[in-house]
Amino acid sequence: MARVALVTGGTRGIGAEISRALQAAGRTVVASYAGNDEAARAFAADTGMNVIRFDAGDFGECQAAVEKITGDTGPIEILVNNAGITRDGTLAKMTREMWDAVLDTNLGSCYNLCKLTFDGMRQKKFGRIVNIGSVNGQAGQYGQVNYAAAKSGIHGFTKALAQEGARFGITVNAIAPGYVDTDMVRAVPPDVLQKIIARIPMGRLGRTADIARGVVFLTADDADFITGSTLSINGGQHMY
Ligand code: CAA
Repeated sequence: MARVALVTGGTRGIGAEISRALQAAGRTVVASYAGNDEAARAFAADTGMNVIRFDAGDFGECQAAVEKITGDTGPIEILVNNAGITRDGTLAKMTREMWDAVLDTNLGSCYNLCKLTFDGMRQKKFGRIVNIGSVNGQAGQYGQVNYAAAKSGIHGFTKALAQEGARFGITVNAIAPGYVDTDMVRAVPPDVLQKIIARIPMGRLGRTADIARGVVFLTADDADFITGSTLSINGGQHMY
């Protein structure tokens, strides 16, 4: 039986490419999304994948979703915590709502879904968790104290949970993407983005496939000695 993978934020951007790549690797993929029904419907029609709508930052919604996926498709053995949002602004302009939204969605979601799937993975003595961090969690970024804190938190979370999962055959790793060509990055003011690209040694934005290949690698059945690591995929922008 194909292993079941849940990819949060899995119907658009980097997440959609991760979902497709895992499907191509023989996994049964369920892709979650928070609000864009139209994109999700188109993605499901195109790929034949199951999609499910819930807020990854809300524990109750995650609980209901994990129960539904387990009942309909099977126990989740591969979890990719990819869902993420930005609410950029300098600290002077950042409201508490901007802080909470980013921390809940980007970091709280990792707690929620790891908490809800970890026990099942322990029982199976198999699990693959990949948390999507960011170069901006490693290096910081002007205008992103919320996002940098959440993504940096993901890197610490990953190393701590990796230690708890190891004796149960559960690996927990992070990928730290750089600036990847998605709607999120296209929302950065063009002049700011040009300056950022100028500092990337490879001279271009990342492609979603650049990240997806890392997820396939880290979630392979035989990738069982790689845990607690962070794979930076950023075109050389930050060497950590
Ligand atoms: N370092 C130092 N100073 C900077 C700076 C920087 N990187 N960027 C801007 N400033 C300065 C400006 O020069 C300006 O100075 P003056 O007032 O003296 O002219 C001051 O800060 C205010 O700058 P802005 O006018 O740009 O301020 P703003 O409030 O309009 O916008 C901002 C601030 C929202 C942070 C905007 O600059 C911005 O969107 N920056 C991009 C942030 C970014 O990279 N986000 C990443 C999104 S993609 C992502 O997060 C995915 C991932 O994982 C990589």
